[in-house]
Amino acid sequence: MENRDKTSVGEISPKPYFWGPFDKFQAISQSGFSSDDWLLHCENYYRAMRDATPAARLVKKFKKIAKRIIGRDFRTIVPSRIEKEISHGARVLDIGGGWGDNFFQLKMDKVNVHAGAYCILDNEKQATFGKTIFSPTEINFLNEIPATPFDIVLLIATMQYIEDWKSLFSTFDKLGNKYVYIARTPFLDGAPSFCAVRSMTPSTVTHKIGEENLHIISFAEFEKMCAAHNWRVEKVSRRQNYSKHFARLPKNQRDVYYQCVMLEKTSD
Ligand SMILES: C[S@@+](CC[C@H](N)C(=O)[O-])C[C@H]1O[C@@H](n2cnc3c(N)ncnc32)[C@H](O)[C@@H]1O
Repeated sequence: MENRDKTSVGEISPKPYFWGPFDKFQAISQSGFSSDDWLLHCENYYRAMRDATPAARLVKKFKKIAKRIIGRDFRTIVPSRIEKEISHGARVLDIGGGWGDNFFQLKMDKVNVHAGAYCILDNEKQATFGKTIFSPTEINFLNEIPATPFDIVLLIATMQYIEDWKSLFSTFDKLGNKYVYIARTPFLDGAPSFCAVRSMTPSTVTHKIGEENLHIISFAEFEKMCAAHNWRVEKVSRRQNYSKHFARLPKNQRDVYYQCVMLEKTSD
């Protein structure tokens, strides 16, 4: 098979980690996000956040301000407008929110998340770990789309892993939310959406822990879906070039970038 990453789990995959596209060879989805190695990465990441010195936190805070000023805030958690809504009691569904890393960052940023207002939808392993850190009044961990309404949906580094990203729009209709915030999802211009396969190599583990199918979303198709479902699209950061990770793909599938996007419901 052409372009196959033959690196075994546990070994070091050559960079870039994206191999594809999906329709040229079958992805072997090895459920990386439910693996023990991903959990180890989550534990390492949590400890690094929890044990950061006051000086390191201060530096992070300044970096956040600077990134907002220069429009490169894809690494900060949510825009200030969303922070304000959350502080006023908005109900949040964090899809793919893992063990609660986004929530933890909101807390460190002194956002006043109201008791019972924050839910995470992710796999059981992430929930089990999250429950050792947070109380049920802080986070409610779910394993399926709830029937209760929400005000805000967060999709941070997650939309690309959802098998049929277009189906999310009917999910939003059911949740009745007013805002969606999407960050760290790869978009592209000038070509249709496509699915690639990536080797998963988390920063704190550094070896291959599995493979995942990953959707690179045509921004034009995304905007069309938003218009059809009455969502106003606002780009809330500058785009971050992500193309170097796609060097193995055909030329028209390399112009990939991150773009933080805020959706606001215009009417029903
Ligand atoms: C790259 S991690 C992002 C974790 C965290 N949001 C962050 O910003 O670091 C992607 C997360 O999406 C979750 N995920 C993947 N597919 C999902 C799906 N269909 N529904 C909900 N969560 C999903 C994974 O379990 C994983 O926790």
